[in-house]
Amino acid sequence: MTQASAESGTWSRRAFSTEFKLEAVRLLGERRVLGVSLAQVGRELGVPPDLLRKWVRPEKRWLARKLASEEGYSFTADYVSTHVPNWTRLLEDYRDRPGVRMLEIGSYEGRSTVWFLANVLTHATASIVCVDIFTRAAYALRFDHNIRVSGVGHKVTKLQGPSHTILRKLPRDHFDVIYIDGWHEAAYVLKDGVMSWHRLKPGGVMIFDDYLWDLHKPARDRPQIAIDVFLESFAGQYEVLLKDYQVAIRKRTIAGGL
Ligand SMILES: C[S@@+](CC[C@H](N)C(=O)[O-])C[C@H]1O[C@@H](n2cnc3c(N)ncnc32)[C@H](O)[C@@H]1O
Repeated sequence: MTQASAESGTWSRRAFSTEFKLEAVRLLGERRVLGVSLAQVGRELGVPPDLLRKWVRPEKRWLARKLASEEGYSFTADYVSTHVPNWTRLLEDYRDRPGVRMLEIGSYEGRSTVWFLANVLTHATASIVCVDIFTRAAYALRFDHNIRVSGVGHKVTKLQGPSHTILRKLPRDHFDVIYIDGWHEAAYVLKDGVMSWHRLKPGGVMIFDDYLWDLHKPARDRPQIAIDVFLESFAGQYEVLLKDYQVAIRKRTIAGGL
């Protein structure tokens, strides 16, 4: 492995650890989404672009090996901690309740799934369906690892694919709790909201993430307008439990128009 010295324009030799390579590939994915070139990311990390490109392919193998030797959870991001007080309050009635069925759209590395398993789906007969496209193998590997570590993997059904395709196949009036945290563009959030609504049991709770996410972006690129349109469209059929960074509603038991 070699590393460049940007100042001199020549590359000096340096060994890179597997952890460094994994982190570099993860960062590359994150920065590429924002439109940053591979060459630029290479410069930022002090890694020749050709070498960085070569690291992308074996990432899955490296990560699988690394995770196999880890006993604890493995997460690279935390989209959960700030919501714990609200989730605890909103979902306390479901804790220890038999047969609770949850649906999660957007599971990523499984951090929220693991939280729901440990704090809501605590009865032996509770379960969760996790829908995600898992755009990178690393996300699915971490999800699988974390679910394994949770010790209650038998409660989890992982469905990989776009939510609008998968939701169509799920039964109506079936889930007690639905968490929507998938693709953040308004059109997708609206579609996830409407399709999920028909899959939520009367009396069930649906939570939208990211109502206040990235408010500086055009409305079509973020969830807020979709959640507002959803709330307007289904007005009268739910009770609002929370309207803050997240929005939570309970479906009325006698819901007109369904
Ligand atoms: C913010 S992350 C979810 C975080 C997770 N709920 C947590 O708290 O740890 C969003 C996830 O949505 C998934 N996703 C994006 N678009 C999707 C789509 N159309 N269908 C299914 N999943 C999607 C992404 O792959 C990503 O894993």
